[in-house]
Amino acid sequence: MLQQQIKVDGKNIFYTIEGTGETVILLHGFGEDCNIWKNQIPSLTSYNLIVPDLPGSGSSEMITDMTMEGLAEAVKAILDKEKIEKCILIGHSMGGYIALAFAEKYAPMLSGLGLFHSTAFADGEEKINTRKKGIQFMKDNGALTFLKNMIPGLYAEESKKNNFKLIEQHLESAKSLSKAALIAYYESMIRRPDRTNVLKTSSVPVLFIAGKDDAAVPLEDILTQTHLPDVSFIYILEHSGHMGMVEEVEKANEILVTFIAACENQLFT
Ligand code: MLT
Repeated sequence: MLQQQIKVDGKNIFYTIEGTGETVILLHGFGEDCNIWKNQIPSLTSYNLIVPDLPGSGSSEMITDMTMEGLAEAVKAILDKEKIEKCILIGHSMGGYIALAFAEKYAPMLSGLGLFHSTAFADGEEKINTRKKGIQFMKDNGALTFLKNMIPGLYAEESKKNNFKLIEQHLESAKSLSKAALIAYYESMIRRPDRTNVLKTSSVPVLFIAGKDDAAVPLEDILTQTHLPDVSFIYILEHSGHMGMVEEVEKANEILVTFIAACENQLFT
């Protein structure tokens, strides 16, 4: 993959790009960087695949506007730089919130929208309180201690028991994340609005991938919104928590390839 760099707000934003054909963008979630998608790249070689480090994650610097809308503008800046007018945008969790913010503003640029363990609902009261506690915890104990506590909870019990190295690898790659960026993401997620209207009005297919053992974005929450778009692709990963792209690599890749091919060939019309 070729690494590219753009300036957003005068800050360096990095992304990898490779391939030709339909553009597919994979957005990582909170506490991650572009490497979370490394197992998907070999399955998507027949596309023009763009995988950014979102502002504040991986090699990319924080930008002034770290809201979901501001982060969506950074995605738009990448597309503009690459002169891409249409893409299939797939986001993991927080990446899905950013994809929804993008879809709200730039719907004509999409030929498919994917929510991988993500939701169009705003945070409920309980989630907001958990995030506020998380912010205080980071201020008191630092980002690394916070991540060490949080990351194992993203995985299914089965993965914790049989594949603990996934969690170790995740932690290793999350080590460089700054407290400032993590707090900014949490504050922005608290403030993000409900975007179910984006689903209701979507003219392109929407992919929903849920993990049966996901404590962060529960299966039930996802299932209550899958009827909203005109065309939904719905999958449940039976052996995953919140991290299906690493917990069930083959299944996840098969789903992504099927969805992308359907959007590309307009198989849903
Ligand atoms: C993520 O994986 O991006 C986060 O779990 C999102 C969230 O906390 O809502």
